Amino acid sequence: MPDKILFVCLGNICRSPTAEGVFRARRPGYICDSAGTAGWHVGAPPYAPMQAAAARRGIDLSGLRARQLVAKDFVRFDLILGMDADNLEAIGSKRPDGNRTAVRRLTDFLDGDVAASVPDPYFTRDFEGAIDLIERAIDGLCATLP
Ligand code: 4NP
Repeated sequence: MPDKILFVCLGNICRSPTAEGVFRARRPGYICDSAGTAGWHVGAPPYAPMQAAAARRGIDLSGLRARQLVAKDFVRFDLILGMDADNLEAIGSKRPDGNRTAVRRLTDFLDGDVAASVPDPYFTRDFEGAIDLIERAIDGLCATLP
């Protein structure tokens, strides 16, 4: 059973911090974090419209700060969850040789075949749709945990 979970997206200012915030609210006892495959926003808080969408659902993202995925993450975490196919490819390219940490899509945990990725709201501007999918997938993930 995974008990150290890392959520990964591109910028670590929209999707993965939202997944982290939702997961922390649902399962306070687990170790979790989030990171971006890119380093553009390192040190920045989650994007304001994303924070606002989360706050409307009672999820506070204001204390989170962006960081980039590093090789050590593959040792520190036992489940790494990306948001889309590009994330999965970038995570694979940063994975140290021989590492066997589970890497999956967050949408694998959706109940039913409703989406194969969490579309990037930084580009789609659909912050509500993103957090809808993220909440549903986190609920599916939590249902697999003790
Ligand atoms: P995220 O969204 O991967 O969900 O954090 C993005 C945020 C910023 C950029 C891309 C994606 N960007 O190009 O700056």
